[in-house]
Amino acid sequence: MEKISPPGLRARLVGLLLAATACAGLFFAQSDPVRAEYGDVVINNHSDAAGVRPVVFPHWFHRVRFRCKVCHSDLGFKFQAGGNDINMVKIIDGQFCGACHNGSVAWSVENCDLCHSGKPNTPTQVHESTIQSLVGTAAPPAANAKR
Ligand code: HEC
Ligand code: HEC
Ligand code: HEC
Repeated sequence: MEKISPPGLRARLVGLLLAATACAGLFFAQSDPVRAEYGDVVINNHSDAAGVRPVVFPHWFHRVRFRCKVCHSDLGFKFQAGGNDINMVKIIDGQFCGACHNGSVAWSVENCDLCHSGKPNTPTQVHESTIQSLVGTAAPPAANAKR
């Protein structure tokens, strides 16, 4: 297979994938509203495999509050979606998100759902508006159903 599929094909594959996993995803998909908007980074190196929702990192929300340097230099976040091997041990240890989400700079780590808010099976990515709308139209109703 080629390395990069055209967006349309990709969206259809995502759609098929969602259809195939709709049953497995139903429990998660309908339990909470899924939040993701333009510029959000979805981080899913480990989440699906570990049985939790992918993480949605609202980049702009943070960018208006902190200088780039705070995260990308001081805290060592690499400039790449999914490029940091983040896990909960590191976070609880005060690294990455845990440098702030510690109950002092920001709310602490027990608020699982506030970070793990992505739609199951969403790959690691930066949410761009075009990809979003393509995925939106291609996704089967079952996976998006609000009821
Ligand atoms: C401040 C944000 C944040 C909060 C709060 C948070 N997580 Fe995470 N968690 C992450 C990030 C980021 C990753 C890495 C995601 C990935 O690569 O898939 C992660 C990964 C994980 C993983 C897979 C890797 C591992 O460490 O095993 C599990 C399981 C997990 N979280 C469970 C939880 C649970 C349970 C809670 C609540 C007690 C929680 N998380 C709260 C951000 C958070
Ligand atoms: C609160 C922490 C934080 C701040 C502040 C922050 N970033 Fe990020 N940035 C992240 C995280 C987390 C990721 C995703 C990394 C991952 O998935 O492992 C990211 C990813 C990125 C990426 C790669 C993804 C993309 O959007 O293309 C770029 C580029 C980037 N940041 C630029 C910036 C710039 C420029 C600023 C300042 C205007 C900034 N960041 C401020 C945490 C931050
Ligand atoms: C430099 C500090 C800092 C880092 C690093 C950081 N956050 Fe935050 N985050 C904040 C602050 C401050 C808030 C606002 C807290 C509040 O409103 O009480 C916040 C809020 C949030 C929110 C809620 C946004 C909303 O709309 O209310 C989410 C989700 C979140 N962070 C996820 C993450 C994840 C995931 C990571 C790691 C990839 C991370 N944060 C890293 C400081 C940080």
